[in-house]
Order: sequence, then C-alpha cells, then structure tokens
Amino acid sequence: MRQTPIYYYSSTSGLVRAFVDRLGRPAFNLAEREHRLAEVDGPWVLLTPSYKTGNPDNDTIPEAVRRFLASAVNRRRLVGVMGSGNRNFGSYYQHAARLVAARSGRPVLFEFELAGTPWDVEEARVLMATLDEQLATSRSR
Ligand SMILES: Cc1cc2nc3c(=O)[nH]c(=O)nc-3n(C[C@H](O)[C@H](O)[C@H](O)COP(=O)(O)O)c2cc1C
Repeated sequence: MRQTPIYYYSSTSGLVRAFVDRLGRPAFNLAEREHRLAEVDGPWVLLTPSYKTGNPDNDTIPEAVRRFLASAVNRRRLVGVMGSGNRNFGSYYQHAARLVAARSGRPVLFEFELAGTPWDVEEARVLMATLDEQLATSRSR
C-alpha cells in the first residue's frame, strides 16, 4: 500500500523534523531546495509550524511552504494539513496550518506542540495509516 508522504518545513531548531522522523514514513523537508521545487506524484500531507513575524500582513506560513503551494499540482493533491505550534502564541496558535487548511478547503488532520509527545507521535502514526487505507480504497473504486 502506498504510504502517503509528508512534506514538512522545519527550521534550524528542528522540532518538526524530530516529530516527523518518528513517524516512519516518507517525509521531505521543504527547507531543502530540491524538495521545495518538486511536484508531488500523488496525495500528500503538509506538516507546518507557524512562524509569527512582526510584519502586519504576515500570515505565519513559512516561505518554503508558500513556495511549494504555489504549484497548482501540489495544491490539487494536498489531502490534509498537520501543524506544530506553541500555545504561548495565543490566538496565533497553529495559525499557519489553520490558514492553509481554510484556504485549500482541506482538513486539519492533527495539531501538536513543539516536537510532540510520544502519544502525539502514536496518534499521528495511526491517523496516517488510516489515511493510507482510505486513499487506497478510494483509488481502487
Ligand atoms: C519566532 C517564532 C514565532 C513563532 N510563531 C508561532 C505562532 O504564531 N503560532 C504558533 O502556534 N507557534 C509559533 N511558534 C512556535 C513554532 O511554530 C514551534 O516551536 C514549532 O515546533 C517550530 O518547529 P521547527 O523547530 O521545526 O521550526 C513560533 C516560534 C518562533 C521561534
């Protein structure tokens, strides 16, 4: 069965990367140019942190994520969004993931803080496995 890949952005602090490395499935870091310029070959999931800047029309979405979503093919094949954030940011908590979900009409699949707990990792593993099955079924119909 195809494992739905996760395309993620992780800064030098690497919290998102630490989470994604524990999921045990294909994952590509959009901080790397090679992946940022690619087009996906099927359904995929976005995992993004939120980065609030001082800029008034800032919308917290990392530039690498924005670039990747500039591709119509990538936008069309996006099936859901996961977010890493920090509750200290109050009303901006998970702002980037929620904004991408709202703009694309795709669901927020999962949210966690920082690098996530072991329970978060387990929950995301189960959720992604279920998604793989749903996508396999919908394609064979
Ligand atoms: C400058 C800065 C701004 C941030 N802004 C937000 C924010 O608006 N909302 C939020 O939920 N988390 C915010 N965070 C928390 C990060 O999204 C969170 O720590 C994430 O796990 C970082 O992932 P990374 O280390 O892989 O880049 C911010 C963190 C930093 C350092």
